[in-house]
Amino acid sequence: MQTVRQLDALRGAVATWRAAGERVALVPTMGALHDGHMALVEAARRAAQRVVVSIFVNPKQFGANEDLAKYPRKELADSRMLAAAGVELLWLPPVELMYPDGFVTNVAVRGVGEVLDGAHRPGHFDGVATVVTKLLNQVRPDIALFGEKDWQQLAVIRRLVADLDLDVEILGVPTQREDDGLALSSRNAYLIPEERTRAVALPRALGVAERAIARGGDAETALAQAREMLVTAGFEVDYVTLADAETLGDPIEGRPMRLLAAARIGGTRLIDNIPLNTNDYG
Ligand code: PAF
Repeated sequence: MQTVRQLDALRGAVATWRAAGERVALVPTMGALHDGHMALVEAARRAAQRVVVSIFVNPKQFGANEDLAKYPRKELADSRMLAAAGVELLWLPPVELMYPDGFVTNVAVRGVGEVLDGAHRPGHFDGVATVVTKLLNQVRPDIALFGEKDWQQLAVIRRLVADLDLDVEILGVPTQREDDGLALSSRNAYLIPEERTRAVALPRALGVAERAIARGGDAETALAQAREMLVTAGFEVDYVTLADAETLGDPIEGRPMRLLAAARIGGTRLIDNIPLNTNDYG
């Protein structure tokens, strides 16, 4: 695996593959890799001959009170995992390359980027959209893969790629979960054992709400029950909601819908989401 920190070296490697007619996949990450990331890498392997993984802890997507300084950084372990998984190139852009002096451009995705996490974490999706636009321009992959765990992020990226006519396919990869259902996340590492035990309430609350709504129950009642389950487990709830799967706005009969939640346990903010499978109870 090549580890590359300069743009011309990255572009040179990708140009060589393209000249040979090979398809290139990009998996953008912030490192601290776990099995969720590795599922993205495996899906990338199936989708393209050459896989590039980027690791960049993007300061622009962290709010002033968020965990940029303590965000886990595990470059050596990450690099070993990626090499073992057959990744061809690890893109490690330095912060001065991503945001040189004088950098003022901001990519803001209105609507889908303004609700839910967009409202609770002002500026977060601008940071994501700006860095993903840069990463896509730097690597110019045929396909880029993102986890469905960050469903709203995926929806924001799909919108931005469509709006800006970016010539890349975006593939969402299903959420990887622990045996008890907790979605894999780099932030799970912050949970002390007692919080980890309680954290399973998050996927369970979504599952309870999903089954109630899919059976024809009242959505608001089901969502209130899910919120109550989270509070009982010791969470502070930011939101538990049912939304249109693409726009994240109000759900519309006949269109795919998604149940999404964000809640804090101890100092750790967790998010999760599941589809509303109205076909389960035909
Ligand atoms: O999902 C992430 O790890 C990040 O938000 C991303 C897409 C790499 C942008 O920094």
